[in-house]
Amino acid sequence: MKLVGRLAALAELVPEGSRVADIGTDHAYLPIELVQGHIVTSAIAGDVNLGPWKAAKEHVDALGLTHRISVRLGDGITVLSPGEVDVVIIAGMGGQTIIEILTGKPEVTKSLKRLILQPMVAANTVRRWLNENEWDVVDERLVQEEGRLYEIVVAEPGGATSCEPIMYDIGEKLWRDKSELLSVHIEQLIAQTKRVLQEMSLSDNAKKSQKYHEYTERLQQLEAKQRCL
Ligand SMILES: C[S@@+](CC[C@H](N)C(=O)[O-])C[C@H]1O[C@@H](n2cnc3c(N)ncnc32)[C@H](O)[C@@H]1O
Repeated sequence: MKLVGRLAALAELVPEGSRVADIGTDHAYLPIELVQGHIVTSAIAGDVNLGPWKAAKEHVDALGLTHRISVRLGDGITVLSPGEVDVVIIAGMGGQTIIEILTGKPEVTKSLKRLILQPMVAANTVRRWLNENEWDVVDERLVQEEGRLYEIVVAEPGGATSCEPIMYDIGEKLWRDKSELLSVHIEQLIAQTKRVLQEMSLSDNAKKSQKYHEYTERLQQLEAKQRCL
């Protein structure tokens, strides 16, 4: 099995020889790829739900990788001990869930050297959390798969830095590197912001709200960035 698209991009961001855990692993495709591709010698695959945990276990057993991949049932990084791994991958979940997982066992999070995160929504919340909790974003990728654009954020321990708030939405690294899919990404952010404003504009109360004001500003800032591309 060779991974493509989003999962392949996540695998590429794992440093060779690191100790890695894939949290919310589902079928354990990622840890299997990493071990079979000799990127890592062993890995931990965690999932909170019985169905995905069973699927991961069966898959790992069927490939004879039981001694190399430890499949654990439990919530987020609570399945890990501090210092047990260097890298945690959390992919395919909402940004808020990712943050809850990272705050669920701070002694583990503090012991990590790299986070590889792929939020399905609210990537801006994840970037803000990383900055406020002294993680530096060292890499960011945009991956298009089956018509959908995915954001991957890679962070390592660092210090809080000041950042233009709109960059939490766009991704400072994506902006600076002039990522190939950046224009599509900004277009999608603009469309999403317009949709929220459109819905809110149906109510006089909503139009007077702080949220409406924030979204109006967000739209102006995104359009200004789009003009700079
Ligand atoms: C959409 S799947 C993503 C699977 C894989 N990571 C990927 O990116 O393709 C989300 C998985 O995360 C698991 N999950 C959700 N919340 C979790 C949590 N708090 N701790 C561990 N696993 C979780 C779900 O059971 C599910 O298997």
